[in-house]
Amino acid sequence: MVVSRPMRPAIQTPVNIGLTAEEGARAINRRLSVAPMMDWTDRHCRFLHRLYAPHALLYTEMVTAAALVRGDAPRLLEFDPAEQPVALQLGGADPTELAAAARLGAAAGYAEINLNCGCPSDRVQSGAFGACLMLDPQRVADGVRALRAAVSVPVTVKCRIGVDAEDGYEFFRRFAATVIEAGAAALIVHARAAWLKGLSPKENREVPPLKYDYVDRLKAEFPAVPIVLNGGITSVEQANAAVARGLDGVMIGRAAYHRPAFLAELERALLDPHFRVPAPAAVIERMVEYARHPRRHGVRLHAVTRHMHGVVSGCDGARAWRRFLSEMACRPDAPPETLYAAAPILARAMAA
Ligand SMILES: Cc1cc2nc3c(=O)[nH]c(=O)nc-3n(C[C@H](O)[C@H](O)[C@H](O)COP(=O)(O)O)c2cc1C
Repeated sequence: MVVSRPMRPAIQTPVNIGLTAEEGARAINRRLSVAPMMDWTDRHCRFLHRLYAPHALLYTEMVTAAALVRGDAPRLLEFDPAEQPVALQLGGADPTELAAAARLGAAAGYAEINLNCGCPSDRVQSGAFGACLMLDPQRVADGVRALRAAVSVPVTVKCRIGVDAEDGYEFFRRFAATVIEAGAAALIVHARAAWLKGLSPKENREVPPLKYDYVDRLKAEFPAVPIVLNGGITSVEQANAAVARGLDGVMIGRAAYHRPAFLAELERALLDPHFRVPAPAAVIERMVEYARHPRRHGVRLHAVTRHMHGVVSGCDGARAWRRFLSEMACRPDAPPETLYAAAPILARAMAA
């Protein structure tokens, strides 16, 4: 295998490296954020996304407050300084436990604490948190107050527009008003209801209809509160339209994961008109550097590269790239430099 180091192609350095929690909070720009996605937006994935969107706000996967308070918090909270600003999403319903978890998160440097009120999974339902919390706005308000008392960084809420039969605008408005009254610094709204009975979490991201008009209406009623739209945004036009309608920003989930270059297009459209989509070779060079860092000692290359399938997408080389990742980078002892061997695939993809 050829393991030579190519010439370093240009790529913009992340702009907020090593900020403290409070500095990170001041650097937050809600125009563009990347959604919390369990098993996907771990720290390696967030580092990758940061290369495509230097100013976006990145969210962790949901971490339960109980896991942080009773588990291995240092391991669960570890992140790279280049990820800032990064928000910690908590799952839980007990205000005391949430507050304790938030203190750990803020001490670890997270720039925002976000409370999950949108996840419909069975695990979350048995713990009566996630989307179930929308049925008990007072409990959410208690949680928000406890979180605010515990940390100085912003406390935000990510929710749906409704739950099961409670899918009218008034239900959503009442929930939002209660949470805002408790001092939530922003609401991030996945603009479809959660159907707790009969749909898998995946179906719950596809089947209940999107109702952006609910989110627009809420913003019109609470103009001073930052409100971010999430759900089904797959084009720059949609993102521009949301901002033009008065919303404070967009949160992107699946489209960012499957095609990170989309994030770069949004960074340019919403945040930095001079930003250029980084070339795959530049991204790969940075990811090799990242994987080689002593902080990643003991981390299998696959843990990093499993998030990189979308680095080459939408062209002839995409399939060869994915095959390369699953055949070469998956090997247990593969060194980071393995990725340099993909240079011919990248060259072909760029020439296409
Ligand atoms: C694999 C996966 C895991 C997710 N995990 C979480 C999570 O931990 N917390 C959360 O609030 N939402 C979670 N979501 C929902 C996303 O944050 C987002 O609300 C949803 O995907 C809709 O946005 P999109 O259409 O841009 O993907 C997850 C979504 C996916 C695809």
